[in-house]
Parts: sequence; C-alpha cells; structure tokens
Amino acid sequence: MFRSIIPRIRIRRRLLFILVMAFQLCFLLYVLFMNYKSNIKIGKNVGSSTGRLNEQKLMRTAKSSVATCKTKATRRFPDLYSIAPVQLDKTNVGDQYFVSYNGTRCFKFGTLRRKEKNGCVCQKGWTGNACSTPEVARVGISKLPQEIQRKIKIRKHPRKVVISMLLNHEFDTLEALVRELTGLVDVVMIEESNFTLHGDPKLPLFYQKLHSGYLCDFYSNIIYIYLDHFLEDGKTNGFKMEGYARNYISKGFPSIAELRPDDLFLHLDADEVPSRDAIAFLKFHDGYPEPFGFVLRWSVYGYFWKMNRVWTVQSAGCSVGMLRQVYDNQPGTVRGGIGHIQQGKIREYKKGGNDVLVWQLGEQGKFAGWHCSWCFDINGIKTKLLSALSGDGERFGDDPKKQKLDFLRTLVREGRWFDGDYLEPKGIKMASPATDKFFAPNFILSNKKRFKHLITNYLLDENKKDDK
Ligand SMILES: *[C@@H]1O[C@H](CO)[C@@H](O)[C@H](O)[C@H]1NC(C)=O
Ligand SMILES: *[C@@H]1O[C@H](CO)[C@@H](O)[C@H](O)[C@H]1NC(C)=O
Repeated sequence: MFRSIIPRIRIRRRLLFILVMAFQLCFLLYVLFMNYKSNIKIGKNVGSSTGRLNEQKLMRTAKSSVATCKTKATRRFPDLYSIAPVQLDKTNVGDQYFVSYNGTRCFKFGTLRRKEKNGCVCQKGWTGNACSTPEVARVGISKLPQEIQRKIKIRKHPRKVVISMLLNHEFDTLEALVRELTGLVDVVMIEESNFTLHGDPKLPLFYQKLHSGYLCDFYSNIIYIYLDHFLEDGKTNGFKMEGYARNYISKGFPSIAELRPDDLFLHLDADEVPSRDAIAFLKFHDGYPEPFGFVLRWSVYGYFWKMNRVWTVQSAGCSVGMLRQVYDNQPGTVRGGIGHIQQGKIREYKKGGNDVLVWQLGEQGKFAGWHCSWCFDINGIKTKLLSALSGDGERFGDDPKKQKLDFLRTLVREGRWFDGDYLEPKGIKMASPATDKFFAPNFILSNKKRFKHLITNYLLDENKKDDK
C-alpha cells in the first residue's frame, strides 16, 4: 500500500513544482513583454535619431528643478524692465554638425552614416556635395536665377540665429518652436505687453510663466522685452499699434552686441514654427539672397484641421547686416519684404555684394514649417478672440454671441470659421499623424497627452461619448 502511495505523492509534488515554475516563467515573460512594448511606444514618439527627451523624462527633470529654475529666473529676469545681455557661444560649434568620411566633410543632418563609401552619402531628401541642402531649400533655390544659385555655398562656421516675436498667450507653439530649433537658434527675443493689441489691460503672463520654470533650459538665450504703454490712436488704428509693438523689439538689440552682419535675424508670428531643416540650411550656407520667407503647412484650431492652401510668409528674415542697413533695425518692417524700401538703400546694400530678392523656402507639400492658427484650448481661443487688434474689418471679438464657449466648441468640432463658413470651401478631411508625415513639430508629437487638443479633434470625441 505505502509503496504505491509515496511515488504518487512525489509525482504530484513534482507536477505542482513544474506548474508553479511555469506560472512564474509566464509572468516574467509577460512583464518583460509589456516593458518592451512601452519602450517601443516611447521610441516611436521621440524619434531615436533626434536624441530628444521623452515626455516622462521631461516631466521628471521639470519637477526636480523647479526650485533651481525659480532661482535662475530671479537672476535672469529680476524685473520687467531689465534686459540681461546674451553671451553668444564663441566656441566653434560648427564642427559638431559635420562628420568626416575619408577626408570629406559631410553635414550630419543630411548624411547617412555609411563609412565604406567615398564622400558623403545623403539621406533621402538631402542633396549637395556635403549633403547640406534639404528638400525645402532645394525647391526654393531652384526658382532663383542661375547666377544666384551658383553662389550658394556651405559655410564652415554657422551664422548665429536670432528669432524675435510678439507674444500674447501662444505658449504651446512658442515652446514647440524653441524645442524644434534647439541648438540652431542662439537668441529668442520675446516681447510682451500689459495690454492686448486691442488695448485692454492684461497681465504679463509670459513673465510670470518664466518665473515658474517655463522654458527654464533656455533662459540664457531669451531676451524679454516689456511694452508697458499703448498708442493713443491704437484703438482705432490696430495695425499702427501692431507695427509699433513689433519695432519696439529693437529695445533688445543692445543686449546682443556681438552680432555680426552675416548673422541671421528672423521676425515670426508666435504661431509660426519653421522646421529644423529650413533653419539648418540658412544657418550653414552663404550666398542665398535676402530677405527670405517660408511656405508653411497651415492648420486651424489644431494640427488636425489642415488647410488645403499653404501659408506663405513672403518675408520673415534677413542678415543682421541687411536689418541694420536696409531695415533701420526695425524688426516689424522685415515682414513687409522690399516693396516699401527706398531704392537707394537697396542699391547701397547691394554694393556690398549682397543679392536682394524676396524668396521662400518650401512649397506645397514640401513645407518649411507649420503655421497653426487659433491653436489653443477653448478658453485660449476666446482669449485670442478678445485680444485681436481693431481696424481689421469686422471684429468677431466684438460679438458677444461669438464669445460663447459653446459656439467656439462647435467651430472647432466642425471645422468652421467665425462667420460659420467651413474652413475650406469644399470641406476638409481631418489630418492625423498616421496619414500626414509632416503633421506637427516633434515636440508636439512627443507630448501626445499634453497636446491632445492640438493633435486630435477632442471635441468630436466628447460628442461621441455624450451620444452613447
Ligand atoms: C578614400 O579616398 C581616396 C581618394 O579619394 C580613395 O582612393 C579611397 O578609395 C577612399 N577610401 C575609401 C575607403 O573610400
Ligand atoms: C502697464 O504698466 C505701466 C507701467 O508699470 C503702468 O503705468 C500701466 O498702468 C499698466 N497698464 C495696465 C493696463 O495695467
């Protein structure tokens, strides 16, 4: 009897042991698999080649350093009026943008790492001996006169790049711009007022955000300019006020004393984000004409309502030399191209060997960046509506019905303008990151949760939930 029972118990024990081990193994495999899956997800969002931080990492760094940022902000922006100088990086940062293969210098942005080949092997969409010309620049250059095209050459040392803008409350697109162009832009001049362009009092929100850690990593590159007054006739002549405000940015120039004539100056609207490719080209080449502008992907309320039409900024930037000599250091006038400039001034500037011609990087389908109009949450859209300047025809901000949040929600959900018309006459299909390779700046795409309202038509989702 006993003899036959004991082996049976042993067998059962062994079976139990095997089952327990198998279960543990399965569990371990499951955990490993889930980890792997979430890593893949993060990797996809970020784009491993760009080396940009992912959302979680950014949040962790942000939390740990809020206190440090506050201390730094008090030093860099002690009050609304002090403008601390920007120290331009003097080291030869040019080298870090090139790799040498068998004695040939190749531009890292556009080069495939393939050592066995002689010379530079370009990535898809990049051309030139050093693989330094991206598609967006090539399409622009190809429309220029031959003799100008021949002058365009790669530089050894990069130009410094200064970007300037008026800011009301476009904090998402500003952050997207600063992150998109990290390492390529040397100074960001941002002007804020305690008035809206409509003339109503407002808090200096950007200044307050700077003091709570917003853009902390870039403090030393930011010049804050505070406009504390409004023109007497600004209420009736909004464009005059806008021009005045844009030119007021020049208050910041003494703080970037070391700029050279061949450095670059751009004046953007706060909802425009040029792409990395476009700015990299401008920074590392000589011989292209100026002023230059951008053909941008245009969308409204978010990146999902993509317009069929492009957004063309005829003229957004030029060299510092041209800014000084032709535009009298007035940032706002750069946006006007050259039509309003005295011929004598242009002739004088051309004598220095400069080609003066308005041209743009990018074209339909090959965009040099993004222009996202009214890209806020619903409250932000209302703020913009109320902040718009006067004197630009019918002002929707004056109509109380159009300020209602429910009305604004309908516009976003259905893709309509404030007058009720659809954004595009025939109606437009919504874009998504899956169907549009040039959907949004990288920073927006790698922070899907935070920018959900700009990536998907979130109001449509809400509607569906309500219906159920
Ligand atoms: C490097 O360049 C030289 C001269 O152009 C060439 O003869 C040689 O084959 C190249 N080597 C490789 C590995 O490509
Ligand atoms: C804006 O700031 C200036 C200077 O501090 C002040 O005189 C003015 O009253 C402020 N305007 C508003 C509307 O707060």
